Parts: sequence; structure tokens; C-alpha cells
Amino acid sequence: MTIFEAMKARHSVRSYKKTPLDEAAIQTLQAEIDACNKESGLHIQLVTKEPKAFDSLMAHYGKFSGVRNYIALIGKKDATLDEKLGYYGERLVLLAQTLGLNTCWVAMTFGKGAAKSHLSIAPGEKLVCVLALGYGTTQGVAHKSKPMDSLCQTSSPVPEWFQRGMEAAMLAPTAMNQQKFLFSLTGNTVTAKSLGGFYSKVDLGIVKYHFEVGAGKENFNWAG
Ligand SMILES: Cc1cc2nc3c(=O)[nH]c(=O)nc-3n(C[C@H](O)[C@H](O)[C@H](O)COP(=O)(O)O)c2cc1C
Repeated sequence: MTIFEAMKARHSVRSYKKTPLDEAAIQTLQAEIDACNKESGLHIQLVTKEPKAFDSLMAHYGKFSGVRNYIALIGKKDATLDEKLGYYGERLVLLAQTLGLNTCWVAMTFGKGAAKSHLSIAPGEKLVCVLALGYGTTQGVAHKSKPMDSLCQTSSPVPEWFQRGMEAAMLAPTAMNQQKFLFSLTGNTVTAKSLGGFYSKVDLGIVKYHFEVGAGKENFNWAG
């Protein structure tokens, strides 16, 4: 499965089988986490065989069951942290999908305290979200998307790569499926803006990663 196919196949999954993660999959994920941390300066961590973080009232309220593995998205507190975690977190989500795993982004409905006792969080760092990880009891369902023309501003004719980028961005997970983002195109330069809302900077990083995969990085430049 390619990363592009993974974007189409990925949906949030909240109920997982007891099957432990395949050792080779753990190694592949850990290598990618190490690469992401090296490239970004983030402090992302993989936790396996740990049921407590998803054994809280909040997690059950969020309809999670059987979560025993997660990726904790951690980094130094600054203005760029949320967007960076969104970008690198989604890179890990899509890799997990190609390895036959399912995931769900989780900002609220998990036990933060329980998770923190299994993590190393340095002074000045913050745990922003986790990615639930495992073999789903289902593959989830596709979310409803806003129409493309409400998510971007362009003047015609729209290049094919921009269209592919937008299709990919529309497949991206966003908090509560809010899709509060706007892409615009001037020449070869693409601007992606967050329109505010709950965790929308994390969402922005996620949709930018999808856009890059769909459009092809070689076809455009990001503004700024
Ligand atoms: C930043 C972020 C935070 C999220 N937090 C939660 C959460 O706390 N609980 C939950 O059940 N789902 C959470 N989600 C999952 C979204 O509800 C889900 O991605 C969205 O409804 C789109 O569905 P899809 O992922 O199946 O495409 C979160 C998603 C994102 C991107």
C-alpha cells in the first residue's frame, strides 16, 4: 500500500483487537519516529502494551476500547508546536496504515495522567495529543467532507497537482471533523491557513502533510 492509498483507506478506529503489535511493524514505526524527531526536534514516543491511558472514564465516554498502544506527540512548547506535531503525527498515521495498523488522533478522550507516567517529558515540553494504535475490529468509515470549493480559493484554470492536493487534504482527519482550513494558490505558491477552532493548528499540520503527498512537493512552494 502506498502512502496515497493509505490516505484513502485511513479512517479513525476506536475499537481494537487484543493482538499485540507485530515486532517488525514496531521496528519500522520506531525508525520513522526517530527520523521525525531528528528532522523536527520533536520528542515523539511510542508506548506499547499499556492499557491504562485508555482505561479512563474519558476514554470510555469517547467510545474507545482495547487500546493498548499509542504514539505520544510531545515537543517543546512554542508557537509552532501544534502544527509540527500535526504534520509529523500524520506522517506516522499514514505509515501505520501501510503496515496494516489502524489509528485515531486523540486530544481529549484519554487519560493524560496515566499516559504521562509512561512517557519522558522534559521541562518545557508538552504532551499535545496521542495516536491510538493497533489492529482495529473494523476499518472505520469515511468522514463527510465539506465541498472542495469551500476549502480553497483559486482562480481558474486550477492546475491538476493543486486539485490532487485538495483531494488529499479533504481526506485528512481534523478535530471533530471541523475542516477549518483554507488553501489558496498564487502562481506556484500555496498558502494554507487555519480558520481557528479547537486544535486547528494541529489540523493545519495534518492537512498540509496530506496536501504535499497529493500534490507532489516538487510542484509547488509553501508561502512564508
Ligand atoms: C487534532 C485531533 C484531535 C482529535 N481528538 C479526538 C478525541 O479526543 N476523541 C475522539 O474520539 N476523536 C478525536 N479525533 C478524531 C476525529 O474526530 C476524526 O479524525 C474526525 O471525525 C474525522 O474522521 P476520520 O478520522 O475517520 O476521517 C481527533 C482528531 C484530530 C485531528
